[in-house]
Amino acid sequence: MTSLVVIPGSWRTGSFNVALARAAIAAAPAGCTCVLESIKDIPLYDGDVEARGTPAAVTRLKEVVAAADGVLMVSPEYNNSVPGTFKNAIDWLSRPDTDIARVFGGRPFGLIGASPGMGGTRLSQNAWLPTLRVLGVNLYSARFFYVAGAHKVFDPSGALVDDKTRDVLGKYMQGFGAFVAKNKRTASP
Ligand code: FNR
Repeated sequence: MTSLVVIPGSWRTGSFNVALARAAIAAAPAGCTCVLESIKDIPLYDGDVEARGTPAAVTRLKEVVAAADGVLMVSPEYNNSVPGTFKNAIDWLSRPDTDIARVFGGRPFGLIGASPGMGGTRLSQNAWLPTLRVLGVNLYSARFFYVAGAHKVFDPSGALVDDKTRDVLGKYMQGFGAFVAKNKRTASP
């Protein structure tokens, strides 16, 4: 089995990215087990807080990532870049920096996103690249998946109602699942 953790960068009621995360889980190929995670309990990064002890919500999510064969980030786009809230969560998971190799290094990651705008989340996905590179993840880049016009692709309950999107998402998840299965880490560095 291949274990995937799916992390949306939004947790609001009616979030298109949570809806996309659920649709991605539904589209995951046989042989993949998926868990949907949330960043909503991650506090703002603060070095003083860290010096007093890493918050429990950070440690919990970090260990979920460290135990997964692959991670799928489902990122909104804010002001043509990454949401600060999501970046904050990833920044916390990168602390202390001596843990970066264990948590991120060589781990297969996927990156998708949804936006009501016409650009989908292409600029956000590009803006994530320096962060994912410095953390040393193994980014799945054979396919590029984003949802533009998300309000037409998901219904008010969050169900995916666009057949073309379902088809392309299915291909992404097939490819990503195979990539994770092939590249899963066998031991901690
Ligand atoms: C946005 N939104 C947005 N959308 C986009 O396609 N490009 C952008 O640059 C931005 N910028 C932006 C900034 C801020 C501060 C907010 C709050 C929103 C719109 C965004 O895509 C929309 O609110 C989505 O619905 C957010 O994702 P969730 O919460 O639906 O998952």
